[in-house]
Amino acid sequence: MPIKIRQVGPCFAGEVEDFDMAKPLSAEDAAAIHAGMDEYAVLTFRDQKVTDEQQLAFTLGLGEIEPPSKASLRAEDDFRLPPTFADVSNLDKHNQPMARDDRRRLFAIGNRLWHSDSSFKKIPAKYSLLHALKVPSKGGNTEFADMRAAYDALDDETKAEVEGLVCEHSQIYSRQQCGFFDLTDEERERFAPVRQTLVRTHPVTGRKSLYLASHAGGIAGWPDPEARLFLRDLIEHATQPQFVYAHNWRVGDLVMWDNRQTMHRARAFPVDQPRDMRRTTLAGEAPTAEQVA
Ligand code: OGA
Ligand code: MN
Repeated sequence: MPIKIRQVGPCFAGEVEDFDMAKPLSAEDAAAIHAGMDEYAVLTFRDQKVTDEQQLAFTLGLGEIEPPSKASLRAEDDFRLPPTFADVSNLDKHNQPMARDDRRRLFAIGNRLWHSDSSFKKIPAKYSLLHALKVPSKGGNTEFADMRAAYDALDDETKAEVEGLVCEHSQIYSRQQCGFFDLTDEERERFAPVRQTLVRTHPVTGRKSLYLASHAGGIAGWPDPEARLFLRDLIEHATQPQFVYAHNWRVGDLVMWDNRQTMHRARAFPVDQPRDMRRTTLAGEAPTAEQVA
C-alpha cells in the first residue's frame, strides 16, 4: 500500500499514517519517504515501537549515517546510547535526570535556541530522526520552522542582500547567546567555526531556503555586531507563526526533519522529569561553502 501523508503544519510538515517502522523498509517506501521529505520537510510517525537497532536500521534504509562526533560535553565513558546516536535526553548514563546546574545539561539546553543540526560541521546534516521514549507531563514540544516559506516571503531587496553571503557557525556562538561561556581550550578548539552559505537551493525541488541557526555568529566580510543583528532579524522573520509547526510529543513518536530546509528548537519542561529522546542523523552530501584556514 502506498504511503499516505496528511499535512499537519501551516505550510509544511506531514504525518505519515499507518506506518510500521519495525518492518524492513522497502525501496518503494524509502522513495516515498524521500519524496515526502522533499515536499513537507518534516514528517511525523506516531506509535512507533522500535528499539535503537530498529531505528538505526530504518535510518540506514534512507541513506548514510552522519559519522559520530564529539558535539556535546559528554565524555565517551558517560554515553548512555551507542555512538551512532545523539543523546537528546536530559538523562545521565544511569537514566536519571541531570541536576539543574549540571554543565552537560546547561550546554545541551542550547537546543532551545532555533537551529539546524550540525550546521557547525563542515558537512552539515541532511535528515534528523528523533524518537521519543519518555516525555514530560507538560512542555517539551519541538517547534519547526519552514525556511523555504521564510525565504519566499522575503522582499526582493532582502533576497538580493542575502544572496551569496557566507556565515560562520559554531556551538560557541549559540552558547554565548544563552550565557554559557564555560568552555575549556580543548572544547573551543573542537568547536572552531565553519562556513555555511546563507541561501541554500534544494537539490531535488530547486526551492531556495534560508540556512540559519543560532550557531551562526558572523557573516564573512561584515562587522560582527551588524552580522549578528542581521541574522537575528532573519531568524525573527523566519520563525513567525505562519512558518512554524509545533510537535506535541507522545511516547513512540518519531519525527524526521530536513535540516537543509528547516530550523527547530526544543521547548522547556520540568527539570526533574525524564525526557528520553534518541536521535539518528543522516549525513549531508557536501560542504555548503568553501572553508578557510
Ligand atoms: C535535536 C533537537 C529538540 C528537542 O534532536 O536535534 O534539537 O525538542 N531536539 O529535543
Ligand atoms: Mn537539534
